[in-house]
Amino acid sequence: MVIFKKIHDLQDFLSAKRKENMTIGFVPTMGALHDGHRSLVKKAVDSKDFVVCSIFVNPTQFKDKTDFEKYPVTPDADILLLTQAGCHVLFLPDVQEMYPDGTGKGNDFDFGYLDTVLEGAHRPGHFKGVGQVVARLLNIVQPDRLYMGQKDYQQCMVVRSLLGQMNISDKTELIICPTLREPDGLAMSSRNTRLTEPQRALAIVIYQCLVSIQGKVNDGNFDIVQKECLDILKDKGFEPEYVALADARDLALTDNYNTTRPMVALIAAKLGQVRLIDNLLING
Ligand code: PAF
Repeated sequence: MVIFKKIHDLQDFLSAKRKENMTIGFVPTMGALHDGHRSLVKKAVDSKDFVVCSIFVNPTQFKDKTDFEKYPVTPDADILLLTQAGCHVLFLPDVQEMYPDGTGKGNDFDFGYLDTVLEGAHRPGHFKGVGQVVARLLNIVQPDRLYMGQKDYQQCMVVRSLLGQMNISDKTELIICPTLREPDGLAMSSRNTRLTEPQRALAIVIYQCLVSIQGKVNDGNFDIVQKECLDILKDKGFEPEYVALADARDLALTDNYNTTRPMVALIAAKLGQVRLIDNLLING
């Protein structure tokens, strides 16, 4: 695997690969990589892409300074994982390289409704930061395929909108890959490493709640199971931010199950200092 820290070096290298008719598959990350990231790289490798991964902990998408400062940084382990997974190029820029004119420029995308609900409502400014950095990365890498995890369901929708706003939906295909889970069901996340042992044991309650929401699809009303989940989470020591049911296509929130359309159940809750999110598709 070749590592680039400078944009022009990466771009020179990639334009040579494009001349060899290679398709570029891109996996943007913030590092602290786990098997979920490995599965994204593997998917790109299996698709015969020339695989570029980026690691950049983007300051502009964190509203919580502590969350940013405590974000795990594990470069050696990340490089090992990517090499083993078959990644061809790692792009490892610093803040100056990514934002030479400062972090204030280039975040003028509008995600409308998506920016006002769930993650958008609880992390104001987060998706502006995501849009800013993903747009910058897409302009640099110009991938044919972009691989992202369903674990960040709303982020995937935001990025889909971003591709449209950048007018590159026909050039860059967004591939959303399934959430990888630990054997007990906990969704893999870089933030899991910040959980204490007792918190780690409790963290599966989020997944258990999602499964119970999924299991009550024939009940009609969502509000009863929603309240049950909120109560369970609080009893176990979580600070739930939301337990929600939404149309999987546009994230329109609903109080009622509808078996005729794809739905998604989503939960965000804090356990101590660590904020966890997860989701489960319902009806396909
Ligand atoms: O999901 C992430 O790791 C980040 O939000 C992303 C997409 C790499 C942008 O910084």
